Amino acid sequence: MCGIVAYVGHQEAYPIILKGLKRLEYRGYDSSGVALLDQELNVFKKQGKVAELENALNGTQLKATIGIGHTRWATHGEPSDRNAHPHLSKSGRLAMIHNGIIENYAALKQDLLAKGYVFHSDTDTEVLLNFIDDILVNNNCSLEEAVRIALKRVVGAYVIVLLDKENPDTLIAARKGSPLVIGIGKDEHFLASDASPIIEYTKEVVYINDYELAIIKGDQLLLKNLGNEVITPFVQQLDLELAAIEKGGYDHFMLKEIHEQPHTIFDCLRGRLDMAKGDIVMGGVQQHIDKLMHANRIIIIACGTSWHAGLVAEYIIEELCRIPVEVEYASEFRYRNPIVNKGDVIVAISQSGETADTLVAIEKAKEQGAMIFGVLNVVGSSIARVSHAGAYTHAGPEIGVASTKAFTAQLVVLTMIALKIAKEKKSISPERFQHLMRELNDVPAKAERILANAELIKEVALRHATATSFLFLGRGYNFPVALEGALKLKEISYIHAEGYPAAEMKHGPIALVDDQLPVLFVATKDAYHEKVVSNMQEINARKGKLIAVITEGDHTMDSLTADLIPVPAADELIAPILNVIPLQLLSYYIGVGRGLDVDRPRNLAKSVTVE
Ligand code: F6R
Repeated sequence: MCGIVAYVGHQEAYPIILKGLKRLEYRGYDSSGVALLDQELNVFKKQGKVAELENALNGTQLKATIGIGHTRWATHGEPSDRNAHPHLSKSGRLAMIHNGIIENYAALKQDLLAKGYVFHSDTDTEVLLNFIDDILVNNNCSLEEAVRIALKRVVGAYVIVLLDKENPDTLIAARKGSPLVIGIGKDEHFLASDASPIIEYTKEVVYINDYELAIIKGDQLLLKNLGNEVITPFVQQLDLELAAIEKGGYDHFMLKEIHEQPHTIFDCLRGRLDMAKGDIVMGGVQQHIDKLMHANRIIIIACGTSWHAGLVAEYIIEELCRIPVEVEYASEFRYRNPIVNKGDVIVAISQSGETADTLVAIEKAKEQGAMIFGVLNVVGSSIARVSHAGAYTHAGPEIGVASTKAFTAQLVVLTMIALKIAKEKKSISPERFQHLMRELNDVPAKAERILANAELIKEVALRHATATSFLFLGRGYNFPVALEGALKLKEISYIHAEGYPAAEMKHGPIALVDDQLPVLFVATKDAYHEKVVSNMQEINARKGKLIAVITEGDHTMDSLTADLIPVPAADELIAPILNVIPLQLLSYYIGVGRGLDVDRPRNLAKSVTVE
């Protein structure tokens, strides 16, 4: 949440920062702002998307070669110009941007109010900034020292970047709990929440760790810990191409990412699914196979869409590996007193690898002796660094706020992990193992066939775009798919939607059904198929508007509705990977049909780094 960008070097800072903010807008778009230092320290900020700031600054001469920028997802204080970052210190000497939450800001603010500080925003950021300013004034020390002292007193999560009028060639940055990457150019440095604003200037980057402080000039990067010891930066080469973070001719990132799935799934399988040898090769699983196959219990921890992937994995792992699985919302797990034993394996699923609740939950489980296995998309992310082992999903950067390709890649990785464990444990027959390998291998081509049907899905979507409520139903492996379909629709179209186990609906939700309610069934051929068709009859009898995702060639539902979306036949274990794709497209077309900004749905942010 919140995106930060900063630049120091020999080029004009504003265009670099502005472009970077547009790339990071997925992290929040309640307001944006920049501070530029060119003899004077000028701050410009605007409520709304980055384009509002750009319009406001159009034609303004901005020559500074050092600056900081921020795009905000509001936590403390409503979205407004005055709560937008950067903030200025009381003395006007410092400007600061911040991503995270300062939990003890209220106590710090009381002290500062008593000292005569006046606040111009409702943010915790302005409190931290003036706390630093106060230390600077009272201790007569360097800014670096003041930041260090302040951060030792701060509770919470942060990345901060400061611009100092009295040191016009230097940026100071620090991190705890929120991401910060620094790109190293020729006599210039780029700072950002992720690598996307940096990639077109340099591929050499340093990921800053918790409790590290960076002092950055055009030609110098000095890293220290909060104890003032110098740390040698670990310079890495970025494995990311510019094309991966651009729309590539699609109207929206979400549509691009939905259409990328045949490739992302292929990339996820590549090098792992060895069809020639009839085996699955996964280094992270192989190295820890003993622990995994002898786990007393697997606890899956995740949020949102990743949690839905976890639910599918629960069904698959219990079926194939015969290991008990629990799926936990990270935000619940971290605050209760869960029982975690040494023989337990925690699987953390996260696209961003930065989700605060998931991160804290696994840290807690790690302290209790559990092994942490990450299923993550972003290489080198905070959760990756806390995990003992893991498997990346290789879906590439996901920029649309609603998760699509990351979800299907998570399902693919989790299925392969389950298969690998089951094979080692001998809880799966060789025939079934080979069959499921072939099924996985066929997924990219089948996904391609579903996407070729996008026009039909669009027609169905537009027929239901004015609905005010939706029900998504599925059984077995398709129940989590129904949950995910409902979540996608809520996020993108702002239509109220509920996902439910199809058979459970008669215990309550059926009361919602009338001739206005679209009820979507994920009704592909599986062990429950006949029962699901009976559930559809029950909705039909109450005049609900039926929509169904069905297996190609299945005519059992022809008389119930014309809104049938066929998908290729697949084993029921593999089907969720395919069945979710029409639901992603359905939400997309409904959102677009309602004239909404599907890449930046209201109130949401891609990476939830606050609790
Ligand atoms: C939904 C969505 C969110 C995320 C959730 C977890 O479309 O994107 O529900 O799935 O915030 O994020 P990660 O996977 O980054 O931990």
